[in-house]
Amino acid sequence: MSAVSNKTDMDTAGRVRIFDTTLRDGEQSPGCSMNLEEKLQVAAVLEEMGVDIIEAGFPIASNGDFEAVREVGRRVKDSTVAGLARATRKDIDRAGEALRGAARPRIHTFISTSPLHMKFKLQMEPDAVYQAVIDSVSRARDLCDDVEWSSEDGTRTEHDFLCRCVEAAIKAGAGTVNIPDTVGYTVPDEYRALIAMLFERVPNIDKAVVSVHCHNDLGLAVANSLAAVGAGARQIECTINGIGERAGNAAMEEVVMALRTRHDAMPYTTGVKTGSITKASRLVSAITGCSVQPNKAVVGANAFAHESGIHQDGFLKNAQTYEIMTPESVGLTRSTLVMGKHSGRHAFRAKLAELGYPDLSDNAVQDAFQRFKDLADQKKDVYDDDILALIDDTVVRQNDHIRFVSLQVACGSTGPQTAELELEVEGEAKRAKASGNGPVDATFAAIKAIYPHEIRLRLYQVHAVTEGTDAQAVVTVRLEEDGRTVNGQGADVDTLVASARAYVNALNRLLVKREKSAPAAFSA
Ligand code: KIV
Ligand code: ZN
Repeated sequence: MSAVSNKTDMDTAGRVRIFDTTLRDGEQSPGCSMNLEEKLQVAAVLEEMGVDIIEAGFPIASNGDFEAVREVGRRVKDSTVAGLARATRKDIDRAGEALRGAARPRIHTFISTSPLHMKFKLQMEPDAVYQAVIDSVSRARDLCDDVEWSSEDGTRTEHDFLCRCVEAAIKAGAGTVNIPDTVGYTVPDEYRALIAMLFERVPNIDKAVVSVHCHNDLGLAVANSLAAVGAGARQIECTINGIGERAGNAAMEEVVMALRTRHDAMPYTTGVKTGSITKASRLVSAITGCSVQPNKAVVGANAFAHESGIHQDGFLKNAQTYEIMTPESVGLTRSTLVMGKHSGRHAFRAKLAELGYPDLSDNAVQDAFQRFKDLADQKKDVYDDDILALIDDTVVRQNDHIRFVSLQVACGSTGPQTAELELEVEGEAKRAKASGNGPVDATFAAIKAIYPHEIRLRLYQVHAVTEGTDAQAVVTVRLEEDGRTVNGQGADVDTLVASARAYVNALNRLLVKREKSAPAAFSA
């Protein structure tokens, strides 16, 4: 079988494909699991952004992942949808089955090629791995025209063996060959040289697109990816906000904005509509509960803020003095005073569209509108950021089994602190009163009284959405059970209500995660 070449004229013209793996590698970061509805929402935004390939999951890992790959594959028409498979017939067949109804399916199969991984993880001899490359790619090509092959731990693989495997994968029908830096170990010059070496030594390399997949353990994932492009790679695998295993993957927004902003130094283009970057970042952060650090490049809250007087002065005279890209280019609208308690549903919908949410479901709009009205009653000024926090909060709650209804807390210096809580569990109203060591503890104890569980609280974090004492609080809670971690978020002007919402959100995620379990020897 020869490769169905994925190469087109755009490769020679310097077009770099963006392969987004937020829904697969990104989902492997601690606490970041997503349910089907959430994956579909993210996939819709990725498609709208113009991402070339969306890796939607790892079908053999769980029924949830299988369903996600199947549904994303069915709904997404403009992007290729990939499903991951180890180098076994069972994995590959499952991926093929999940992708059967997809408009543009891709099977992505991988096996470790480094001495360390082959000896200790796979316990296979190199010759057996080499044969598995041929067998796995051939099997995948029986099921799908578009096949990608990855050499896991590629950057720690012996060059001769890597060349042999890449050549064999292309010969067996892989149209894309990916050389991952699985453990985030390489550095830009070394990675550029590795990719250049493949172009020099693999005789059929021109038949495939060379892809790179970098982890960020040394903070070099984006730099390594860009260096590889300089050597001829034409696909970058990345995630929104850089989420992923351990320190994460290359951040898509950074890769795309670096190529756009420094086109003079790196004459390559992507098909990503950069105006959707902020929306995608917010959505992924809201859904996964993994908040973005304020100083994060491109999408951090401070990425376009100018604090020092000298910078502000220069910026006001000419924005380019301190701004190398505009906030508008990543879809960031300046926070403005928007609406008050007299604003109607129509104006609210128009505002949502302006903020990048033109097609929320009627239910989500109804919930958000009701909460906006409540907020406008409590808070003098309602800003765009307040509305965005409400939307994020509403979006993540659409499929919850347990829902927050109401909370009354008694607290203060004389104690005891007590919380009276009402939740809806599978549609049934349940109430409890509990006391604790402070109001947050009492609130969480009340949740435990209604829904008993043995789960550890690993993180409790609060930040304000806007300035002022009447600002909404966004609370993040991380829970852990048997090594599984989940993040939950909640927003409200009342910090304790936001805390209860966040805890309940995390609990809902844990229920979903209990159903998922990764198969053995999977460490991609
Ligand atoms: O990091 C890795 O090696 C991976 C592969 C499955 C592509 O995620
Ligand atoms: Zn990875």
